[in-house]
Amino acid sequence: MNAPAGLPDLSHLWMPFTANRQFKAQPRLLAGAKGMYYTSVDGRQILDGTAGLWCVNAGHCREEIVSAIARQAGEMDYAPGFQLGHPGAFEAATAVAAFMPEGLDRIFFTNSGSESIDTALKIALAYHRSRGEAQRTRLVGRERGYHGVGFGGISVGGISPNRKTFSGALLPAVDHLPHTHNLDKNAFTQGQPEWGAHLADDLERIIALHDASTIAAVVVEPMAGSTGVLIPPKGYLERLREITSRHGILLIFDEVITAYGRLGSATASEYFGVTPDIITMAKGVSNAAVPAGAVAVRRDVHDAIINGAQGGIEFFHGYTYSAHPLATAAILATLDIYRRERLFERARELAPAFERAAHGLRGANHVIDVRNIGLVAGIELAPRAGAPGARAAEVFHKCFDRGLMVRYTGDILAISPPLIIDEAQIGEIFDTIGKVLKEIA
Ligand SMILES: Cc1ncc(COP(=O)(O)O)c(C=O)c1O
Repeated sequence: MNAPAGLPDLSHLWMPFTANRQFKAQPRLLAGAKGMYYTSVDGRQILDGTAGLWCVNAGHCREEIVSAIARQAGEMDYAPGFQLGHPGAFEAATAVAAFMPEGLDRIFFTNSGSESIDTALKIALAYHRSRGEAQRTRLVGRERGYHGVGFGGISVGGISPNRKTFSGALLPAVDHLPHTHNLDKNAFTQGQPEWGAHLADDLERIIALHDASTIAAVVVEPMAGSTGVLIPPKGYLERLREITSRHGILLIFDEVITAYGRLGSATASEYFGVTPDIITMAKGVSNAAVPAGAVAVRRDVHDAIINGAQGGIEFFHGYTYSAHPLATAAILATLDIYRRERLFERARELAPAFERAAHGLRGANHVIDVRNIGLVAGIELAPRAGAPGARAAEVFHKCFDRGLMVRYTGDILAISPPLIIDEAQIGEIFDTIGKVLKEIA
């Protein structure tokens, strides 16, 4: 393929989660970023309505993070993490633990959300084995759950296009809870819906079918982001916690999106007042400046694995880049910004204005639902007959051309800006979407 004028050759890169042919026929490339804005290759300012991919919570190219990474790269570019360590790894673990709910203070580093999930699933199996319950291997996920793209993550995940090609190779013992999305009951809810807590009781059915003694863990996103901002009904997470605790099943919250302020608290666990046994994270932990992820584990779960081992390596798992020095430098600088600038409080304070602006789209062309929590909103559009997803894709492109980045999945737009956003920029996001919705069929 010839490169369009002024652009690099686009043919070699196989783009992730992208309609490659469509993109390359009409490429939109980003060249710079600062604060709330991207700069496109043609020099336009694009307001970032999505914090990149839900990850740049402190805004782009923060000086403190940039200089921490640069300093570390000059001092020590890499250190092996197997049977060796470096101070930044331990400091970063201590800093991450300080943001986690009480008791989840043992931290395993990864490089992504997908790796965090696979790590958490392995920890769950290792924990039960270390306590003499090696038969607890069954995992329970949820329909419409997204847990990254590893084989563990897609097995517990509930997105059929991510699963069907690999269906013969998914983990064998996995069940799924029903998702909680129901527009007949909950359309245009502000915050948590009233209806749906009972959907957690399906876990009792799964337990009755297989027996609790075979089930290792239940994994859910406390708020499902990637499949279109699905907000947990009031009482739902509490019920999952109660049922899992009663049956000795570990509860894993995938907080890859929700950790680090998205809802106005350090974690969704803190926000909802429900503490799981394991939290997975990535994205906001390093402000996405260097790929990084982590798993926070309840201390006694960690201790059971570490103290239950005969000797030598207790947990046969890890990555060449676990606690990479550049990642730990970015994590320390990022967490320092969150604390110093009180960004989670800022998100909480802005949430009512954000909610008002989002729900201002009620009644706009094609809009069949608006839902929100913290600094997240989902705007669901009626699909075009015979062309699901096409309408939201058009909104995405038109917004970009008007200087706004939004995200879409199916026919749902998702808005999740950096936490440094101001009220005028919040207004601009929803005004622009409103204008675009007026223009399109
Ligand atoms: C809840 C959740 N889990 C896992 C992942 C996967 O993270 P990554 O793309 O870093 O592997 C994502 C990514 O969006 C996510 O939203």
